[in-house]
Amino acid sequence: DWTAANVVEELVGAIREQVGESRVLCALSGGVDSSVAAALVQKAVGDQLTCVFVDHGLLRANEAEQVEKDFVAATGVDLVVVDAKERFLSALAGVSDPEEKRKIIGREFIRVFEQAARDVVGSRGDDEHPVEFLVQGTLYPDVVESGGGTGAANIKSHHNVGGLPDDLQFKLVEPLRSLFKDEVRQVGLELGVPEAIVWRQPFPGPGLGIRIVGEVTAERLEVLRAADAIARHELTAAGLDRDIWQCPVVLLGDVRSVGVQGDGRTYGHPIVLRPVSSEDAMTADWTRVPYDVLAKISTRITNEVREVNRVVLDVTSKPPGTIEWE
Ligand code: XMP
Repeated sequence: DWTAANVVEELVGAIREQVGESRVLCALSGGVDSSVAAALVQKAVGDQLTCVFVDHGLLRANEAEQVEKDFVAATGVDLVVVDAKERFLSALAGVSDPEEKRKIIGREFIRVFEQAARDVVGSRGDDEHPVEFLVQGTLYPDVVESGGGTGAANIKSHHNVGGLPDDLQFKLVEPLRSLFKDEVRQVGLELGVPEAIVWRQPFPGPGLGIRIVGEVTAERLEVLRAADAIARHELTAAGLDRDIWQCPVVLLGDVRSVGVQGDGRTYGHPIVLRPVSSEDAMTADWTRVPYDVLAKISTRITNEVREVNRVVLDVTSKPPGTIEWE
């Protein structure tokens, strides 16, 4: 019988057997997979686990808090937070090219995580119980996909914590290897992982960095975060979360258009809504969000986010469009 409780029990046993008395490290991203994997390992070996959360400043409103406060409160994990916001902003200064942004974000992430990992190894490990394992939220479809397949994967360089440096060698703990996404969510709920994390829609590793067309700046991040929070709130309020695979909200930082507000002419930035329906993100269709919901989102964003004077809807399927704009 498949029940989340049975799966948890089984996986906890397997983790204990694999890890023994050693110490374990996990890079938390705020996403479903790394969070559920960490919660499982925490349940299995408790304080032998240390989680590292690199706050690159490219998350959406409240997401860092969800990890730093709610997730820790719910699971009791030992968490090290690295505030790297300034570092990522400086590294991204003046850069507009999407692939360049991805490379910079991926590179900085590895560097920051590497340093944090060294610090954890130094402070938490000891000779008898060294930090020996790294938790990865690999799912069954990832295992299958990496078995074959070439070529198409490089349309955009996806960044994850894959390429760890040679001098930090860990064995992998991959407790979710046999699970599908919906099973991971059930296991997460069983473990008490906050619902905001369990039901989070896919969000790319480079975060809002690839949802600002043009240079990423602190001001633009603030504008996008505000617009995104409104769109997400209204889509959830309309009960559309389960119909929508994900809805990137994109700021066209290099585009301005003329508007009018009150008595005045404005010259602001457009926001793009990109709601898509999909099974696996390989193909997607644009979601037919009801007009009244779109109207509400548009009105609220243009009223509440000063720099935005226009909201547009992306009605492109994938292919030919990708889900993200960059
Ligand atoms: P695209 O834009 O290629 O996106 O249609 C397909 C799915 O992948 C997500 N995505 C990423 N995820 N790192 C990630 O972890 C990335 O660099 C990245 N780029 C795209 C995207 O949100 C969608 O779910």
